[in-house]
Order: sequence, then structure tokens, then C-alpha cells
Amino acid sequence: MRPALILTLSAALTVGIALTSPPSVAAKPSPNPPPEITVSRVAVQKFGATLKEALQQAMQSGGAVNGIAVCHDKAEQIATDLSQHLGILVGRTSLKIRNPANAPDNWEQAVLKQFDARKAQGEPVDKLEFFAVIDDDQGQKTFRYMKAIPTAALCLGCHGEHLTPEVDAKLKELYPSDAARGFREGDLRGAFTLAKPLP
Ligand code: HEC
Repeated sequence: MRPALILTLSAALTVGIALTSPPSVAAKPSPNPPPEITVSRVAVQKFGATLKEALQQAMQSGGAVNGIAVCHDKAEQIATDLSQHLGILVGRTSLKIRNPANAPDNWEQAVLKQFDARKAQGEPVDKLEFFAVIDDDQGQKTFRYMKAIPTAALCLGCHGEHLTPEVDAKLKELYPSDAARGFREGDLRGAFTLAKPLP
């Protein structure tokens, strides 16, 4: 029990520090980390691991072109299943997107820029996270959470600077306005983005 508690407290502290520079958009950081932060971290971990596993399996049996089919067909399904299972909306976004359906809204854009700035100041990409409770015009409160996604070596075959002609052609066919290329290992690829309306 004790190590878990310490972990939670130090994680809360990290978030607390992050909140000293909130994005300029209507984001109201709450004084104490809300309980939704725990389910968010579980969801992000599960989403990332499930995607990576599906991707690795597909690429082992059919190379990167086969992997594209997994990202194209399964990423959304995995997100939908997880959202239903955990009761929190799960997705991915980036400042350089491949699928236009993943485009960031204003709040997400501001947080992604904040992540870029924090990375430039030396924070490790895999530790970057941010949350806020947002009030809309109708008084509806929504808990929102984002966690940065670093670019790993595994990602470069489809998001890196040098793509094979087959991968290049398949991506152009499926995503004519693809901007999610040219990344290097360690770059901020994007972020998981979660939302849950509060009662
Ligand atoms: C085999 C090719 C392939 C590999 C390898 C790959 N991706 Fe992708 N990635 C895609 C495709 C295709 C999409 C678009 C998915 C969709 O249609 O929603 C995508 C979308 C994304 C998105 C959503 C935002 C956007 O640009 O639409 C993120 C974030 C992302 N990838 C991160 C990663 C990371 C991190 C890795 C490495 C761990 C990785 N990808 C490895 C093909 C790949």
C-alpha cells in the first residue's frame, strides 16, 4: 500500500507543478487532483499497450504496410471499446495529424503547445501530462486529461523521415493530407486525450 500511496502523491505533485502554467483557453485547474485522474492513467496505459501489441503483431506478419491497416481499421475501435469499458472518452491527437478526425480542438492545441514548451525546458516527454475541469456556457463541467506520446524507434517506419516507397504510397492513398511524418526518435508525436462529463 505504502509505495502506491507515495507514487500517487508524487504524481499529484507533478500535475500540481504543471498547473502553474495552464493553457490560455478556459481551463480551470482544480486545487486537488480529481479521482478521474486515476482512471485516465489506467485508460492511457491500456490504450497504448493494446495499440502497440496489435501493431507489432501485424508488422511481424506483414511488415509496415500491414501495420498501416491496423492503425487505420483498429485504432478507433480500440478507443471506442475502451471508452465504453472505462466510462471515459479516449482518443489521440497531435499538432501534426495523419487522420483529420484526430485534429485537436482549441484546448488540446493549447495543451500540446504547453507540452512542447515543457519538453524544451527539459521535462522528459513520457512524463508530460495535464488535466483540467472545464466549464462550458451551459454550466456543464467536463474533466479533461492529456498525456504526451513520445516517438519510439517502432514508430519511424510510418512517422519518420525516411519511409519506404510502399509505405509512402499506402499512406498517400489513405491519408491525402497526412502531416504526421518527419518525426525523430524522442520527438513529441502527439498525445492521448481523454474527456468525461461530470455530474
Ligand atoms: C505501420 C504504420 C504505423 C506505425 C509503425 C505507427 N503508426 Fe501511428 N499512425 C499510423 C496511421 C495509419 C495512423 C492514422 C490512424 C487513423 O486513421 O486513425 C496513425 C495515427 C497516429 C496517431 C494519431 C494522430 C494522427 O496523426 O492521426 C498517433 C498519436 C500515432 N499514430 C502515434 C504513433 C506512435 C507513437 C507510434 C509508435 C509507437 C506509431 N504511431 C507507429 C501508422 C503507424
